[in-house]
Formats: sequence, structure tokens, C-alpha cells
Amino acid sequence: MSRALAVPTGSPFARIVSLGSYRPSRVITNAEICETIDSTDAWIQERSGIVERRRAAPDETVADMGVAAGAKALAAAGLDPQSIDLVIAATATHPYQTPAAATEITDRLGATPAAALDISAACAGFCYGIAMASDAVRAGSATRVLVIAVEKLSDWVDKTDRGTAFLFADGAGAAVVEGSTTAGIGPVVWGSDGAQKDAITMSVSHIEHRDGLGEFPVLTMQGQAVFRWAIGDIAPVCRRAVQAAGLTLDDIDVFVPHQANMRITDALVRALKLPPTVRIARDIRTAGNTSAASVPLALDRMVELGEARSGDTALLVGFGAGLTYAAQVVTVP
Ligand code: UT7
Repeated sequence: MSRALAVPTGSPFARIVSLGSYRPSRVITNAEICETIDSTDAWIQERSGIVERRRAAPDETVADMGVAAGAKALAAAGLDPQSIDLVIAATATHPYQTPAAATEITDRLGATPAAALDISAACAGFCYGIAMASDAVRAGSATRVLVIAVEKLSDWVDKTDRGTAFLFADGAGAAVVEGSTTAGIGPVVWGSDGAQKDAITMSVSHIEHRDGLGEFPVLTMQGQAVFRWAIGDIAPVCRRAVQAAGLTLDDIDVFVPHQANMRITDALVRALKLPPTVRIARDIRTAGNTSAASVPLALDRMVELGEARSGDTALLVGFGAGLTYAAQVVTVP
């Protein structure tokens, strides 16, 4: 007769204990963007809310930025990297299918032999990662997880494409998740709609790339279709996440939507009828759209500015290519 297998016992709850972020030093103004597309500073600001964005140096990698953000999150909690046993990197712009960016990040942070993997959920990646980290800690397959969301979109954007060149940017955000005696991460409401996979996708174009003129895969986006989906379908996802956490929108202190477009943020705030006391992330103004990295970058900036305080209840939502989406309520560390 076979004997029953032992199963791990996790923590009853999980919480985010610290955040960290990395913004590349190079600032790209709308004027610089307009050197390669037929546009204006006024149009970009009016249609997206973006005034400037950051771009990584040509030789700066996804792993470099991930290490920088991860190190800050570890330092913020005063943690030994060796206490991390799982590293999840959410990224759609690491240039290799294998090995995962997370393995290099883990090693460079001194967290080896932590388990390490990348997840590809585009702009929903950070919220997917937090959900998976929370579940791993509660199931007992990890005790402390480093979630890193990092994008170098500048390597994948056609700088002459009017629909994407002004929008996408580079950066990294990170969070440490561990067990807790109180609930700090609410249930995730997540999903996908692969029937709309072509709305944001990669296709090969003949472009001027950092490696010269040639055929390179670049991001293409049906901007209006994605915009309509975001303003129509994402507010209900937010409401379901708040309800799943056993709260109402009146309990929310901070709203951190994926920084896709300022007009999408405004539309979500209107659709949710958020009380005026709720503080809203508007990091896109100076960070651009950094896909998976945008939620942790924006939340960390709000903490830095005192707009989000430790113990606040924050509603996070990510949405993008796939199409994918994920929302959850968390306690600000
Ligand atoms: O992060 C992942 C998810 N992504 C998103 O959520 C992005 C969603 N989409 C968007 O944010 C918006 O669709 C964009 C910001 C990308 C574009 O804004 P839009 O208001 O949807 O612009 P549009 O494509 O509808 O174009 C409106 C007008 C057109 O001119 P006409 O036909 O009205 O004369 C375009 O030709 O603006 C023109 N246009 C531009 N003008 C100046 C399009 N791109 C540009 C440009 N500069 N870069």
C-alpha cells in the first residue's frame, strides 16, 4: 500500500513587506520623441498624459534593471538575499526565451539557489506575480518571494511608429512577499482573452534598431481597440477584486491602475465612482507606459511622496497584451 505524501504547510496569510524601483537615468522628452514621429508635445500630453519617460542605456539589460529594483526592495526590508526562496520576474521584453531573466537576477542579487522563473503576462505581469507569490507562501512552497516587474520596451518599439513610440518606456519595480498573521494580499481576480491576441503583438518590421537597419520584431498595437477594452472591461474587474477582498470601494485609500494612458486612468476613476479621498497613481506623466513595471513603479513613487502610507488599502490592477488582466487589493507596506 502506498504511503501518503507529506505536504508543506504554508502561512495563513501573505503580505507585501517592501517595495523597490529603478528608473533609468536618461529622460526622453516629447520633443525628442517628435524627432522620429510626426507628432507634437501637445498631442502626446492631451492623448496620453505623458510629459516625459525614461529610456535605459543601450547596453543596460532587463536583468540589470531587475537587479537594481530587487536590491532596493531587499534593502528596504533589511533582508538577507539568502532568505528569498523564490524569484518571479514579470517581463515581456527580456530578449531570450531561455534562460529566464529571473535566474540571472537571482544570482546577481546573491539569492541563489532560490527558485527562479519569468512570467509573460505583459502589463498584468506584476499583479499576476503578486498573486502567485501570495499563493506560494500560503501553500508552503516558498517562505519569502521576490517579485520583480521589469521592462526594456525601448528595444522592441519602432521609434517611427506613431502609435507606440511616444507611449512605451523602460523601468523596473519589485516587491517582497512573505507570510503574515493578517491578510495583506486579497484574492486575485484575473483572466485573459486570447481571441484579442492581435490587439498588442510582436511583428517583424524593417526598422532602424540599435543593432543597425534590418528586420527586427517590434511591438504593434491597435491602440483604439485596446483603449475601448480597457475602459469598458477593467472597471468590473476592479469591483470584483474589491468585493473578493470583502471590502467596498469606500475602503480603498489608494488606486494604482496600470499606467497605460492617463485618459484610461481617468475613465476608470469615473467608472468606479471612486470617492474623492482616494489617492490615484498618475506616474505615467513622467514614466510613460512601462508595461509590467508600471504598477510597482507607481506605487513605490506614491509611498516616496507620502501619497500612500504604510497600512493603507490599495487597489492594484494590471491589463494588457494577451489580452490579460489581474486585480487585487493589498496593504501598503
Ligand atoms: O499598456 C498596454 C495596453 N495599452 C494601452 O492601454 C494603450 C491603449 N491605447 C491608447 O492609449 C491610445 O489608443 C493611444 C494613446 C495609443 C492613441 O490615442 P488615440 O486617441 O486612440 O489616437 P487614435 O489612434 O484614435 O488617433 C486619433 C488621431 C488620428 O487622426 P485623425 O484620423 O483623427 O485625423 C491619428 O492619425 O490622432 C492621430 N494620431 C496622432 N497624431 C499625432 C495618431 N497618433 C498620433 C501621434 N501624434 N503620435
